[in-house]
Amino acid sequence: MAHEPQGGEEMTEEVKQLTWEEKRTLDKIVDSVEDPTHQKILLLQLAQKQYGSLRDEHMRYLAEKIGTSYTDLYGIATFYHQFNLDPPGRHTISVCMGTGCHVKGAKRLMKKFQDILAIKVNGTTKDGRFSLKSVRCLGCCGLGPVIMIDEETFGRVRTAQLEGIMEKFE
Ligand code: FES
Repeated sequence: MAHEPQGGEEMTEEVKQLTWEEKRTLDKIVDSVEDPTHQKILLLQLAQKQYGSLRDEHMRYLAEKIGTSYTDLYGIATFYHQFNLDPPGRHTISVCMGTGCHVKGAKRLMKKFQDILAIKVNGTTKDGRFSLKSVRCLGCCGLGPVIMIDEETFGRVRTAQLEGIMEKFE
């Protein structure tokens, strides 16, 4: 879990811990954005795409690079649901919340996953085993409600089946 924003001293320490490769990759991301100061969401999207989540030290580095504060980027990252501050789990559970699945009980599945895993949407379990995502139409509405775990699709899923389905994903 990302930490609350701290003082400037810690920022520098965290940034120092980045590898040369990470800095180079983040530099390239900044360079690829036309106006990073005014396109912070895009900047964060690209960083998340590269690393699977928005890590504190990366946001601190990006903030220094574009001349803003870590708190500024952290605020954006926590405001928009698309951003994930936790490192991705070993397995990603995607629950389809498209209309076709919604009418067949997708909301109940999502609630049950949240209860079992004790996380919210876009969260990752403490043991790093699962991340939970909400997705739009997986293209097999006739099988609704549909979930995916990593690349495997499960259709007509009932809440009572969820724990059994998760068992094989260690
Ligand atoms: S709405 Fe869920 S697969 Fe289409």
